[in-house]
Amino acid sequence: MRRQHGIRGAASVLVVGVEPRGMGLIRECLGAEAVLPTHVTPYEDAAAIVQKSRPNVVIVGFDADPEQAVRLGPALLAESKSVHLVAMSEQTDPERIRAAMRAGYREYVVLPDDADLLRKAVHEGAYGSDEEEPQGEVIALVGSKGGVGVTTLAVHLAAELSPVHRVCVVDMDFSMGDVAAFLDLQPTRSIYDLLHEVHRLDRRMLAGSVLVHPSKVHVLPQPTELMDLEEIRGDDILRILNAAADAYQYVLVDCGGRIDETTLTTTTVADRVFLVCRPTVVAVKNAWRRLQLMERVGIEKDAIRLIVNRWTRESELSIKDIETHLDVPVAATIADDPASCDKAVNMGRLLREVNRRSPALRDIGAAVDLITTGAERIESESDGHKPFWSLFR
Ligand SMILES: Nc1ncnc2c1ncn2[C@@H]1O[C@H](COP(=O)(O)OP(=O)(O)OP(=O)(O)O)[C@@H](O)[C@H]1O
Ligand SMILES: [Mg+2]
Repeated sequence: MRRQHGIRGAASVLVVGVEPRGMGLIRECLGAEAVLPTHVTPYEDAAAIVQKSRPNVVIVGFDADPEQAVRLGPALLAESKSVHLVAMSEQTDPERIRAAMRAGYREYVVLPDDADLLRKAVHEGAYGSDEEEPQGEVIALVGSKGGVGVTTLAVHLAAELSPVHRVCVVDMDFSMGDVAAFLDLQPTRSIYDLLHEVHRLDRRMLAGSVLVHPSKVHVLPQPTELMDLEEIRGDDILRILNAAADAYQYVLVDCGGRIDETTLTTTTVADRVFLVCRPTVVAVKNAWRRLQLMERVGIEKDAIRLIVNRWTRESELSIKDIETHLDVPVAATIADDPASCDKAVNMGRLLREVNRRSPALRDIGAAVDLITTGAERIESESDGHKPFWSLFR
C-alpha cells in the first residue's frame, strides 16, 4: 500500500519435482509460515510459473531427476533474479550439493533433519535480512460505470495469483457487492462487522471475517442483505485496507462502478488503480469523467491502468479511438466471452472450472503481469491475433 509500512504476510513458495512424501515433510516444516501450493509443479512447468507468479522461494526436489533439477537452477534465476532457490533431497551427497550450489541454489536441505534451515531459507527468501518489510500491494478496481466487469476481473485476477501468493479480494462495493456470490460463498461475517469494530481491528479479526475459496482466494465480503449503513468514513476504510495489506501480498479491492468516499479513499492509497471500461461510447465517456475526478483528487496518472473489458474486433470503438479520447494508454484488453463468463457467474464457479480455454480467462491470465511485474501494457492476443493497433506504434 502506498506510503505505508508494516509487516508483510507469509512467504510465497513454489514446490517443484518433489515426491508426495517430501511434500508432506515440507508442509509439516513450514506450516503457517508460508503460502504453500496445493500441487507439486513438474520440472518442465516451473520456469513459466516463476515468470508469471514471482514466488519468493522455489523448493526443487533433487531425488526424482537430479540432472533436471540442476539445469533448472539457472533457468529459474533467468526468470526472476530475486527468487531464492532451495534444493531438497533425502540424501546428503556432497557432489550433488556442489552441483546444486553451482546451479544457483542457496540451500540444500534434507528433511526432517534440516527443518530449521528450510524455515530460515524461506524466511530470508521472503524478507531478506530486513525486519521491516513493505506492506502488500493494494490494487483498486473501479468501473467506468456499473456492470462493466469489475467483479469478474477482481475475482479472476485473484484466482490467477492465489496458487502462489496470499491474495484477498475486498468487496468495497457497498451498493451491490457480489464477490461472494461470484464464488458461491456464503458470508457469515462481512466488512460491515469490521466497520463496527474498526477500532480494534487486527490481522486476527480480519482473518475471522474472510471467507476462503478452494482456490485459496480469500474474500472480505459484503453482507448478503443490504445494510443500513451510516455514512462510511474514509479513515475506517483506510484501517480495513491497512489490516488487509498487513496480512496479504495482494489486496484486490472491488470498488464497483460508483465514485463515493470508499472508492476515493481506496484509489488514493492504492498502489495501482485499474479503471475498467467497455469499448462503447457511453462507457468511455464515463471513464473520462472518472479520470478527471481522479486527477482532481490527486491520484497520479502513472498509477492508473485502463483495462478494456469485453473487447472484440467489431467493438463500437477501436483501441486507438479509446486512447485518443482518454489520453491514457490501454493497459490490457479482455476478450468478450459471454458464453464462459455468464456460465461461470450463474454457477458460482471460476472461468477455469467452466472453460479452461476461455479467451477471457487467457487475457486475464496475461493481465496478471500488470500486478506482479508492474507492467504498463500487455500485448493482447484477443481472437488469437496480435492486436491490430500495435501496427500503428
Ligand atoms: N469479458 C467478458 N465477456 C463477456 N461477459 C463478461 C465479461 N466480463 C464480465 N462479463 C459479464 O458482464 C456482467 C457484469 O460483470 P460484473 O458483475 O463482473 O461487472 P461489475 O462491473 O462488477 O458489475 P456491477 O456494477 O453490477 O457490480 C456479468 O454477467 C459477467 O458475466
Ligand atoms: Mg460487481
